[in-house]
Amino acid sequence: MAAATSINTIDPRDIGTPDDWIPRHSEMVRLTGKHPFNAESPLSLLMDQGFITPVPLHYVRNHGPVPKLHWDIHRLVVDGLVSNPLNLSMNDLENLPYKEFPVTLVCAGNRRKEQNMIKQSIGFNWGPAATSCAIWKGVPLNYILKLAGVNLNDCVNGPRYVCFSGVDKLPNGFYGTSIPLEWSLNDVNDVILAYEMNGERLTPDHGYPLRVIIPGCIGGRMVKWLSKITISNKESDSYYHYHDNRVLPPEFDAERATKEKAWYNPNYIINYLNINSVITSPAHNEYIPLSSFFNNQMYTLKGYAYTGGGHKITRVEVSLDNGKTWLLSKLDQPELVHPAVLKRRINPIPRYWCWSFWSLIIPFHSFIRCEEISVRAWDSTQNTQPRNPTWNVMGMMNNCHFRVKVNTIPQGNEFRLVFEHPTQPGNNPGGWMVKPSPKLITSKPSDVSTINSQIPTFTINEVAKHNNEKDCWIIINKKVYNCTKFLKKHPGGTASILINAGKDATNEFTAIHSTKAIELLKGFYIGNLALLQSKL
Ligand code: MTE
Repeated sequence: MAAATSINTIDPRDIGTPDDWIPRHSEMVRLTGKHPFNAESPLSLLMDQGFITPVPLHYVRNHGPVPKLHWDIHRLVVDGLVSNPLNLSMNDLENLPYKEFPVTLVCAGNRRKEQNMIKQSIGFNWGPAATSCAIWKGVPLNYILKLAGVNLNDCVNGPRYVCFSGVDKLPNGFYGTSIPLEWSLNDVNDVILAYEMNGERLTPDHGYPLRVIIPGCIGGRMVKWLSKITISNKESDSYYHYHDNRVLPPEFDAERATKEKAWYNPNYIINYLNINSVITSPAHNEYIPLSSFFNNQMYTLKGYAYTGGGHKITRVEVSLDNGKTWLLSKLDQPELVHPAVLKRRINPIPRYWCWSFWSLIIPFHSFIRCEEISVRAWDSTQNTQPRNPTWNVMGMMNNCHFRVKVNTIPQGNEFRLVFEHPTQPGNNPGGWMVKPSPKLITSKPSDVSTINSQIPTFTINEVAKHNNEKDCWIIINKKVYNCTKFLKKHPGGTASILINAGKDATNEFTAIHSTKAIELLKGFYIGNLALLQSKL
C-alpha cells in the first residue's frame, strides 16, 4: 500500500494560484489543470487504501479558490424562518452533542468522462474515482435547528427548505444549495455539520473549518466552508443550486436549457445518489501472459459499489459474455462491522451510507474468448444499473454497466491479455471509449508550411509579457490567443483566465470547454508558438 497519509509540501502546480498555501498529494490526478483544484486519486491507489480513504487521497471538487478561514474567528449564522437566530463559534459547535461515522461521498459527475466520449457535456472529465470514504464527525443538523426553534410543525403551512451557504465567492455568487427541512430534521438521515474528518480537523480542501455532510446524497449538496444556514419557504437562491447537479433530458443542450428554464424544473434536480459499481481489478492496461493459462491459475476480479438514500447494496454481478449470463460476486461490506457504526446502529430501519467491495475468483481460462468483463450492482429496492449510458448536458450520474475490454496482444513470441477500461481520468490518454479529440485540440501547431507563411510566431517569453487584465494572452495547443477583450465576458469569471495569462493554458482549457467555446476561441487567435522554429 502506498504511503499516502501525510503530506506537507506545496505542489509546484499550485505556485502562482490562490491555493499556493495548501499541501496536496502529488499523485492526485488534476482534472481542470492547475486551478481550481478538482482531483481524484488514481483508481488502483484509491482501492489499495481499503474502506477508509486517507484525507490526501480523498477526491476534491472545488468550484474556485479555497477560502482561508480560521477556527477562532469563523462563525455559523442560522437565520430566516427561525424563532431563535443563532450565531455560533467553532468552539460552541465543538461543545455540542456529536455523531461520528463513515460516509462515502460521491460527486454526481463520477464517471463523467464516459459520457464526454459520447458527446462533450459542459462538465470536466471525472474518471471512476470521484468517490471516497471517510469518517466524519460533527453536530447533528437537527440539533442546531431545534436550538434555532425550528420544528416539523413549520412544514404544515407549506414547504420549508434548509439553505446552506459557503464562504467561497465564485463568478456567479456564493456556492450554496438547499435540502427540504423534513430531511434535515429526521434523525435517521444523519445530516451533520462536520468539523472532523478521519479523526482530525477538516483540511482546507474539504471545507475547514465546517461543512455539511448529508449521507446517501450527492456530494454537491454538502456545502464546504459553511457560514450560513437560512430556513426559507423557497429553495436556495444560489446560482449553483440551479445550474449544477441536475440531470436534464438528453435532448437538452445548455442553450435550450437556459431558454426553456429547464435548470429550474424541480423534476431534474439530483439529491440521492444512484446505484453504481466499477471494476478496479483488472486495472487499465494490466496484462496477463497467455502462458499463465496452463498453470490452473485463478484471477480475482474486484471493484466497488454504492447506492443512495441509505439503501443497501444487496448483490453485485459480473458478466464475461457481454451480459448474456451473470455470475454472483462475493460482497464485502466493511460498514456493517465498522466500530463507529456498531456503536451507533440503533435505527429500527438501518441506513447504509458507505461503499461496498465486491470480488469474484475465476480461473484464468475464463478469459478465453471473453471480449469484455462487465459489472452491475443491485440494491435493497431491487434497483440495478442500465447497460447503456444516458448522455445529459451536465454529464451527471453516469451509472451504466462498467465494461472492461479484454484484448489479445502479441508480445515477442507470445500473446498476452491486456485489459482496457472505458476511459482514463482528465486528459489522460487511453480507454476503449476514447475517440480522437475535436479538430482544434488535435490539430498540430503550424509546421514548416506555416512558418514560411505570414502567420506570426511568438516565443514563450514574448507571450509571458502579456500577463495582465489590460493585455492578456494565453497559449492553447501551441497556438497563441489574445483574450483581453473577452476577459469580462468569460462565463467562468475574469480570474480564471487571468490565472493563466501569459502562460500555457491547454490543460485548463481542454478540461472544461465545449465545442462552442472552441469555436469562440478561434476569434482570438493571433499566431503560433515559435517552438518549432528552433527545431528547424
Ligand atoms: N461547497 C462549496 N462551498 N464549494 C464547492 O465548490 N463543491 C461541492 C461540495 N461542496 C463545493 C462545495 C461538490 S460539487 C462536491 S462533489 C463536494 O463538495 C466535494 O467534497 P470534497 O471536495 O470534500 O470531496
